[in-house]
Amino acid sequence: MAPMPVSDIKIGHIDDVQELRKSKSSYIPERFIRDTTERPKFDKGVVCSTKNIPVIDLSKLFRGNKDEFLNEILKLTVSCQEWGFFQVINHGIDLELLESIENVAMEFFMMPLEEKQKYPMVPGTVQGYGQAFVFSEDQKLDWCNMFALGLEPHYLRNPKLWPTNPSNFSGTVEEYSREIRKLCKNLLKYIAISLDLNEDVFEEMFGVAVQAVRMNYYPACPRPDLVLGLSPHSDGSALTVLQQGKGNSVGLQILKDNSWIPVQPIPNALVINIGDTIEVVTNGRYKSVEHRAVTHKEKDRLSIVTFYAPSYEIELGPMQELVNANNPCKYRRYNHGEYSKHYVTNKLQGKKTLDFAKIKLDQEFKY
Ligand code: OGA
Ligand code: NI
Repeated sequence: MAPMPVSDIKIGHIDDVQELRKSKSSYIPERFIRDTTERPKFDKGVVCSTKNIPVIDLSKLFRGNKDEFLNEILKLTVSCQEWGFFQVINHGIDLELLESIENVAMEFFMMPLEEKQKYPMVPGTVQGYGQAFVFSEDQKLDWCNMFALGLEPHYLRNPKLWPTNPSNFSGTVEEYSREIRKLCKNLLKYIAISLDLNEDVFEEMFGVAVQAVRMNYYPACPRPDLVLGLSPHSDGSALTVLQQGKGNSVGLQILKDNSWIPVQPIPNALVINIGDTIEVVTNGRYKSVEHRAVTHKEKDRLSIVTFYAPSYEIELGPMQELVNANNPCKYRRYNHGEYSKHYVTNKLQGKKTLDFAKIKLDQEFKY
């Protein structure tokens, strides 16, 4: 969510997906239809519905006895190492608040287009209502409407983009963000412990963390086999917290061992994933895993996604403790603001954005 100069890039006409659904219910414009190799059934792997991402019981970390604590930390290690994704239950966030954010998000998306367009996402920027990550006229579009806001630090906020309608929207976002921020700080503490590091290591490393929220609304699609809800990508954050709408269809899938594994919603749980920053600072020990969203023929879907990342002025690189002869340094040091800018000015394309930080093999030998 790095602030960016308003650019004059040409992105062509972008149909609003909800409006498309309203007007001609079975028509899908060409720009949404993926090339054969990118369609949900053929892109990289087959869908495997028999596996599930791990579940971490946070009450065991907050107030479990020593054995329970250590056992859950071990599960966290495996989750971050093998999956890069897990769901948390008993996270302590008021369930009414989870319901409220979902309600205001849905109320927002259900407003008439003219109302939502009062908060436009200007091409090349990532806040407001529209489609992010579109940079050219020939780029394929995602079957999704998005609304995104920068939250912390406050200088990221653009007050003109904060909806006044629904009237409790902004207040709910504020309260939700405060709770999710606490959760992120706690998770980073446990992630540090799971790596045998000082529990404050990330808090100290990241400075005043950047936080943003993106609400993704995926209308039902008459041909889910031809489109993607959200292109495959890894997240440019340190951690991401994703809330799936209650009773929604399954839509999020993660890439593991060449299969796409659907993330089955668990009532009241939150989905957590490791972002690019944690992959870099752990020198690849914990993985920022590629994921995507697919659509459903009859059901719509909502997700509320919080990105938690280091302050833009922070310099990052693999931690010394995690670099050794068996695990040579895989990433260079860089400024997180520059990484963030690189991330938001490129289309979503698997894990390609991390090339920005990767040390090439020949360089690895040289150092
Ligand atoms: C994201 C994301 C998946 C989803 O917003 O970065 O991965 O299910 N969303 O909405
Ligand atoms: Ni994501």
